Amino acid sequence: AFSPRVTELLASMTLDEKLGQLHQAAGGRSRNLNSRLTDDELDRVRRGEVGSYLHVAGAEPLAALQRVAVEESRLGIPLLFAMDVVHGYRTIFPVPIAMASTWDEADWEAAARVSAEEASASGLHWTFAPMIDIARDPRWGRIVEGGGADPYLGARMAEAQIAGYQGGDLSQADTILATAKHFGAYGVPTGGRDYGTADLSERSLYEIYLPPFYAASRAGSGSMMTAFNDIAGVPSTANETLIDGTLRGRWDFDGLIVSDWNAIAELINHGVAETRADAGALALRAGVDMDMTSAVFVNDLRQAIEAEPALLADLDLAVGRVLTAKERLGLFDNPMAYHQTARETAELLSPDHRALARDVAGRSMVLLKNDDNALPLTAGAGRVAVIGALATDAWTQLGSWRAQGRPDDVVTLLDGLQTRAPEGVEILHAAGAHPGNDDLTGIAEAVALAESADRVVLVVGEDYDLSGEARSRSDLFMPASQRALADAIFNTGKPVIVVLVTGRPLAIPNLAERADAILNTWMLGVEAGPALADIVYGDVSPSGRLPVSFPRATGAVPYTYSEFPSGRPADPDLGRDSNRYHDQPITPQFPFGHGLSYSAFSYGELSATSDESGYHLSVDVTNTGEYEADEVVQLYMRDPVSFVARPQLELRGYRRISLSPGERLTVHFHLTAAQSAVFERPGAWRIEAGELQFHVGASSADLRASASVHVDASGTSDVPAS
Ligand code: IFM
Repeated sequence: AFSPRVTELLASMTLDEKLGQLHQAAGGRSRNLNSRLTDDELDRVRRGEVGSYLHVAGAEPLAALQRVAVEESRLGIPLLFAMDVVHGYRTIFPVPIAMASTWDEADWEAAARVSAEEASASGLHWTFAPMIDIARDPRWGRIVEGGGADPYLGARMAEAQIAGYQGGDLSQADTILATAKHFGAYGVPTGGRDYGTADLSERSLYEIYLPPFYAASRAGSGSMMTAFNDIAGVPSTANETLIDGTLRGRWDFDGLIVSDWNAIAELINHGVAETRADAGALALRAGVDMDMTSAVFVNDLRQAIEAEPALLADLDLAVGRVLTAKERLGLFDNPMAYHQTARETAELLSPDHRALARDVAGRSMVLLKNDDNALPLTAGAGRVAVIGALATDAWTQLGSWRAQGRPDDVVTLLDGLQTRAPEGVEILHAAGAHPGNDDLTGIAEAVALAESADRVVLVVGEDYDLSGEARSRSDLFMPASQRALADAIFNTGKPVIVVLVTGRPLAIPNLAERADAILNTWMLGVEAGPALADIVYGDVSPSGRLPVSFPRATGAVPYTYSEFPSGRPADPDLGRDSNRYHDQPITPQFPFGHGLSYSAFSYGELSATSDESGYHLSVDVTNTGEYEADEVVQLYMRDPVSFVARPQLELRGYRRISLSPGERLTVHFHLTAAQSAVFERPGAWRIEAGELQFHVGASSADLRASASVHVDASGTSDVPAS
């Protein structure tokens, strides 16, 4: 049931006005939106034929447009202004996969809050974020935009980001509507090729790919976006079973559902609709409310409704949900609340926002390797050759989806290292080669510089244009120019610290073997340089943990730490006939949860008990090293015997803790019984009596203590387990 205001409006709207509310039109990315809207377009707003604009920005230009909708259209219904504010608006934070590496809900929420404050100050009501697609295949370029490979971690990140974007009260003018996307299995396209079929089991869908969407729904996400691709032949934008049945039916999701860009029209390409009218009817019936840019709803749905008047009821539901979103944002009461130019000036890129970006960037970096304490570099480290064009590439630090981020706002990696070099450290630079091209002519100069230096900081990897939407790769090695540069530098025999810049896990066997240290920085946002200097010079101990494993080779993906056990496990004693490769180990190069510290931590015994409220676990963790540092304590579960095979390990908890040298803390976890339930069929999860094993440790491959509980009574749950 809709509010009285929405119900009344619905009753007074013409069919065209209703269809108009479901249409999202594309604006320009420019702040001078007005100059780009023609008189014809403004007339469409006057006639009530547009419900929302995307890719628009700017408090002032959007105020002018909003005034046209509110003052010059018959019903005065305000417009919704939307943009992909994915990891910051003007203050750009690390890319989402880097943010996921913090394993820190406070960071996720705070960064989303700042993004909402800035975007809302600039006239926006709605972001297409968070992207919560679980991704285990790094060939897929959009792995950079999400929270990684694990449903538990992904679900927690989704909740925190939604809380940050939407604040406590969506009607406040500094909050924006979040969009959990892309419902439901966009992150598992065949071959890692963007937009391709997800052909997966119902168990995988419900146990791995949907839990973050369930969490997003519980967290009150104001909207969700359907995926471009199909699941086993059913395009997500027409998937009535999933949208209407699971999302709205079983999970009671009452927010707005928007299609992806042109995806309704693309139902024809999928081969499930013959005409645009058919495509519109399919999407509407499935439960899609707003049509992003294809204009099928506004132009062609009338024809489908004339042929099938029963669609009118679906139409009213969709329009009611669009109007309800506008109402929740407070737009009917104060349509101009989001257009305060003074707030826009004060908020964007404020010193506080930059400070947060730097802290979060510090926690996002993952120290993959550090032989003989090659890092940190301390006073007296001598001549340091910073080699690599990525060291000065500001665009790359902004990553995919940079909203209003500007390269001039970025402190580059080189700037950061130069500005903060401690005494007795001289920073020199040569570009060598850039991943975006095959030009190797700079390598000779880079080698000469390396040879003249005491040590090298080698900045290599991918640039921003190699990951993101439609940026799938068939090969997970670094681009050829980066491999050539790395080999040439290793051949100098100098100590080499690799600073890896990437939007995806890469296969880096050469770096893993030859580098003294590898610091994976992903892409760090506007404060990349200062954050890197904090870590490299030892002011901050690295504390990021991988949210997805790094493979040894492209042929080894997709891989997950939580595979089902094989009847013939990879065991050298089983020889040939076991679940392994013949040419290399099946283990990843760097496993899920991995990340080193400048300090060291010891774990005590794991205590585990169960009662009617679930399972209680606790463990003492002590900082036994010499640095004040954060540890991410990870809790994994295993159900050793079940009615179906269960994953070898499943993440079921984690805590980021800060400890001074010598300090000890008891870390507690509480799990409900439902968190150990096993999927049987949609809406039915089984809690089994028997043994449950728990492990705590520093990564999925570094488990330090274990304990079991006995579950006395079996039971059922109707919601996803994580
Ligand atoms: O939000 C995005 C989506 O993730 C991919 N296609 C375009 C949309 C709007 O920009």
